[in-house]
Amino acid sequence: MIFDTHAHYNDEAFNEDRDELLASMPQKNVGLIMNACSKLSEMDDIIDMCDKYPFVYGAVGIHPEEVETASDEYLAEIEKYAKHHKILAIGEIGLDYYWTTDTKESQKRIFREQIRLARRLDMPVIVHDREAHGDTMQILREENVSECGGVFHCYSGSAEMVKEITEKFNMYVAFGGSLTFKNAVKPREAAKAVPLDRLLVETDCPYMAPVPFRGKRNCSAYIDKVLLTLSDIFDIPAPELEQITFENGKRLFRIED
Ligand code: NI
Repeated sequence: MIFDTHAHYNDEAFNEDRDELLASMPQKNVGLIMNACSKLSEMDDIIDMCDKYPFVYGAVGIHPEEVETASDEYLAEIEKYAKHHKILAIGEIGLDYYWTTDTKESQKRIFREQIRLARRLDMPVIVHDREAHGDTMQILREENVSECGGVFHCYSGSAEMVKEITEKFNMYVAFGGSLTFKNAVKPREAAKAVPLDRLLVETDCPYMAPVPFRGKRNCSAYIDKVLLTLSDIFDIPAPELEQITFENGKRLFRIED
């Protein structure tokens, strides 16, 4: 079965058919879903989905593009949500210099504070790094992320970075639809460098639909396309990779049978 380790089913793109779609996931070979959080106002919806669907888990955290939504008490709020038994990670957190660089300093501060909280709560982090590899790596290093571990979601860094992420940071590396794009030479090289026991798959849905659905609304069932691309890269049958990534995801988020 597929473990989609990064989704946003609370997004308004699913408003029309969210329940129908989520209810159909087990028939579509999707066994587990980790729903990430971008800002704390999403948490009531995320917890509702977690309560309703046994195969949906959640994370809580503030995305770098949403740092301006952080109240003075945001860390206490995150901690409160993190107590829910199906909230298993702090995320998504990190740095994004693609859309905006004028919040760089607050992005860095809030990233650091959330890693410290994750370590204190002993929960893995879900890291978003876009056009910010140097600063992201430096902060993860300085904040001793290896103590809580986590995942680099929608990985866009180099093959060289993979070594430090998996060996020193005790983290996993996740790939989604962008791996299937024709021009994805660098991500494919990076994927090849990931040890099999650290590899994960994800959608980031509703975004990042794989070929041949590129540009359309993404969903967890389309991960079979990502698995086929990984099968090419590793020369391992897709069903085997599906099982490996499923087990890896369960280990990362500490999901028991
Ligand atoms: Ni995301």
